[in-house]
Amino acid sequence: MHRRDFLGLVGVGALAAVGPDAALGGLPTSNVTLTISPVVVELTPRLAITTTGYNGTSPGPVLRMREGVPQIVDVINNTDVPELVHWHGLRIPPEVDGAEEEGTPPVPPHGRRRYHFTPTPAGTRWYHTHTMAMNDLHRGSYTGQFGFLVIESSGDPGHYDQEVFLALRDWEPFLTDQMIDADALGQQWPQTEKPQTTDSRPNGLEVTAALYSINDKALGAGEPIRVREGQRVLFHLLNASAIENRTIALPGHRFQVFALDGNPVPSPQGVDQVLLGPGERVDAYVDMNRPGVWILGGVENDVRSSGLGVVVEYANQQRQPEWFPPSRSPWDYTIFGNQVRSPSRTSSGADDVETIDLVFEKVPRAYAPFNGFLVNGQPYPHEREFVLHRGRKYRLVFRNRTDDAHPLHLHRHSFELIEIYGKATSGIIKDTVVVPNYGKAVVQFVADQPGPTLFHCHIQQHMDYGFKALFRYA
Ligand code: C2O
Ligand code: CU
Repeated sequence: MHRRDFLGLVGVGALAAVGPDAALGGLPTSNVTLTISPVVVELTPRLAITTTGYNGTSPGPVLRMREGVPQIVDVINNTDVPELVHWHGLRIPPEVDGAEEEGTPPVPPHGRRRYHFTPTPAGTRWYHTHTMAMNDLHRGSYTGQFGFLVIESSGDPGHYDQEVFLALRDWEPFLTDQMIDADALGQQWPQTEKPQTTDSRPNGLEVTAALYSINDKALGAGEPIRVREGQRVLFHLLNASAIENRTIALPGHRFQVFALDGNPVPSPQGVDQVLLGPGERVDAYVDMNRPGVWILGGVENDVRSSGLGVVVEYANQQRQPEWFPPSRSPWDYTIFGNQVRSPSRTSSGADDVETIDLVFEKVPRAYAPFNGFLVNGQPYPHEREFVLHRGRKYRLVFRNRTDDAHPLHLHRHSFELIEIYGKATSGIIKDTVVVPNYGKAVVQFVADQPGPTLFHCHIQQHMDYGFKALFRYA
């Protein structure tokens, strides 16, 4: 029941009650139940696919938890395979983080498991399966097992007229040896990691897709986002793809980006387009000041016309949805950071920071017909893990010696981006960063979350075939 399936053939899994119960006096917990089961995603009225999702839908419900309020999460697995639910961007212990490499016990097939954790930090997080898929494109993050998780704080909720959650997805992935490089970062960066001679062996098969949606609908198939002139809309954007970076735009409007990966940035900025690597989130306001009917969608024409978009419709406007390409201003994380004068800060090592160099290489067809990835010359699992000392500050230097951009993610910690595209920055707190091909990024964090900590590329195939490492505390 995995392949494309037509409407009405399959029932929808049981809907479980979800969402924080009112934390009434003295009741410290609220409960969430996530049921993993087959779901039907009706991308268009004529095209429904069957996959695996949460609580009968994909995306799963938007979960809201209160920062610092202990949670009980029950996960019920109504599938035939072990599953793991990972809480991306949370600072929680390895036993509940949802990564087998860290020692989180999986939820057995047709079994259940209860997790206790205290959600932190506040911001836009998300939850998704963390199983390996290897060559099975109906497992892991190729399925519909993902959803938004908002950790609410008592801080200022901001001022806006409506709140919209948009998760970018692709469906029905397949293997190809014709990977078109769609990364188009639009950015210039020094290719300091480019080897003298590049590997000319033929590339392995990679995963791609030709069917897209925002949330559960292909462009034009769902309800439009209905707005009125003068409104301010809060958009929570997530790239929930297992395979590719995406750039989206809303013609004639600007995204006022105020948080990256859920964390407020030092310099909020308006941009015409937003790039999101798999796993990344962007929170932005859009002031609705250009009446019409518009397509908010992928900037690549084939991707948008294959479903990656949603219509934004102003009140009293009746016309065909319009699209025009945004200005070609490149996506640049550093515009949201503090100005930092000298890039030497990242190499000086003047303060009490320990530097860990991580060199990433691709070995074409190492696992024929697939590529393999090495971290510091070694395949995973590495003989010796990277050892952290509690309380110490670390600088990770990501050296991308491959011809692809990779969204690199560190579990259970937040890091500060301090260098990318050859530019120094500060104050940008993230958990995932897209490191350009043959480029370098430097991040810094305090080792304050004892226990095994997984680091990996958020592209499922890359992670499965070696692009990961485990840190452990001394
Ligand atoms: Cu979003 Cu290791 O995951
Ligand atoms: Cu990758």
